[in-house]
Order: sequence, then structure tokens, then C-alpha cells
Amino acid sequence: MLVNATNMLLKARDGHYGVGQFNINNLEWTKSILLTAQEMNSPVILGVSEGAGKYMAGFKVVAAMVRAMDESLGITVPVALHLDHGTYEGAKACIEAGFTSIMFDGSHYPIEENVAKTTELVAMAHDHGLSIEAEVGSIGGEEDGVVGAGEVADPAECAKITALGIDFLAAGIGNIHGKYPANWKGLDFDALEKIHQATGNIPLVLHGGTGIPEEMVRKAISLGVSKINVNTECQLSFADATRKYIEAGKDLQGKGYDPRKLLAPGAEAIKATVREKIELFGSANKA
Ligand code: 13P
Repeated sequence: MLVNATNMLLKARDGHYGVGQFNINNLEWTKSILLTAQEMNSPVILGVSEGAGKYMAGFKVVAAMVRAMDESLGITVPVALHLDHGTYEGAKACIEAGFTSIMFDGSHYPIEENVAKTTELVAMAHDHGLSIEAEVGSIGGEEDGVVGAGEVADPAECAKITALGIDFLAAGIGNIHGKYPANWKGLDFDALEKIHQATGNIPLVLHGGTGIPEEMVRKAISLGVSKINVNTECQLSFADATRKYIEAGKDLQGKGYDPRKLLAPGAEAIKATVREKIELFGSANKA
């Protein structure tokens, strides 16, 4: 059932658990995540980056596929279709395409410009019944071999953006996208506590969910995190299972080259990763 993400995250905040956002790249990804959420009776958020949207031939294609699949698989758990790290233009395009939730990432703009653009998009999203996430303090990550430390958001800026009427807030607390470097200092829980206090109990979002130790994830949830984004970990599981299939020469046996067979181990591996995360976040049976 496609819904916006507001209620599922308010419930998560009040129930002290997290809802997973799992990014999708294609039909297999979408199907694996939807079936696992249904099997575990868990709410779920499907994240679509601008790049993944382009890869799938546009946001309209994504929205049509997700809506149709949700219906034909008979999915009854709440599912939000969410733009991940959207640009201003991308956010508008997703509102038109039929997404149920958007993230506007204005963290690289000066705070005043982030405020102006977020204000406009909050009105537009809410007019159309969508939920909206905004970001303060950019999430670091690996790009072209350079690993940037995650920025820590300023609580006052977080309060300013929250006051614009957004539904949930991504605030950098030293988290980064992709694999964490060996010398990573861990999440900054002092910063998280200050941000939580400054933002009046708005559900907080933890990006870069791949590779954060389980204890840190649990602690973050206890300090106000209600949404955890996972992308790279599903990609790693998919690639690993696919490599094993090829290395075992299974594509050369019988009709092992049939894409429905070739992609099956990867699709199962995504299910296993999503299952593990839903258990960790505590959202099973919270649909
Ligand atoms: P990872 O790729 O590190 O799991 O991060 C996902 C994410 O935050 C998407 O916005």
C-alpha cells in the first residue's frame, strides 16, 4: 500500500524503532524489498536516487513500476516511494511523477538558500500529500577515491530547517555513504542528542546505514533516529552472490544464463540483507 512516510515515522519515533529506507535500482531490487517487508509485516521506504531514477528511464517509470508491483504482489504493509538526495528540480519532478515522499538535499547551499528552497518544496509536497525530508550538514563519503569525513550538523541550523514544516530531518553526525574507512571515529552521539533536543522530537534520519556497528544503530534509534538509509549493503550482497554464481560456472550449466536464473541468487541476497536490517531496526510486525 503506497503511502507517504509521515505516519510510519511518527509511529516509529513513538515506538522507539527505526524504519529502513532501502534504495532501489531495478525491478529485482524492488521486488526483493517489497516481498521481504510484507513477509516481516514491516513498513518500508523505497529510496530512489537521482542517478537510479535516470538509470530506470525516469521517475515516471519508477513510480509506475512501484505502484503496479505493489498492487500485483498484494502488498498490504505501508510502502513509501521516496526521492533520495533530491535536487530542487528532481524533487518537483517526483511530485509530478507520483512519488509519495521526497528528500530535498540543500545541504550544499548556504543556509539561507537551503531555507528558501526547502520552504517552497514543503508547500508543494504537502499540497500533493507527500512527506518531505531535508538535510543539514552534508553526509560525507567516498568519491573518486577521496574519503571525506561526515560533517556534523549545527543544532541551530537543524532547528531552523525543522521549523519550516518538514516531516523528518537528515542531520550529519559523522555518518558517511558507502563503506566506512578503518579510522572512522564513529557516530557523534553528543551531536545527535543536541540536534534531537533542538528539533522538538522530529523524526531524525540516519544516512549511510551500511557498515555502522549494530550497537551504534541501536543507540542512534534510542536518541531519536526513526529512519535509517541502506544502499551500499544491498549492492554488496547482490554482487557477492552473483559473483559466486558465475565463479561456480552455473551460468554455463543448462540454461543458467537465463537472466531469471542468473539474477536469482542476487535477489535472494538482497532479501537476506533487508531481513537482517528490519530485525535490527525493530520494525518487524509494526506495519
Ligand atoms: P549507504 O550506501 O552507506 O548504505 O547509504 C545509503 C544512504 O544514506 C542513501 O541516502
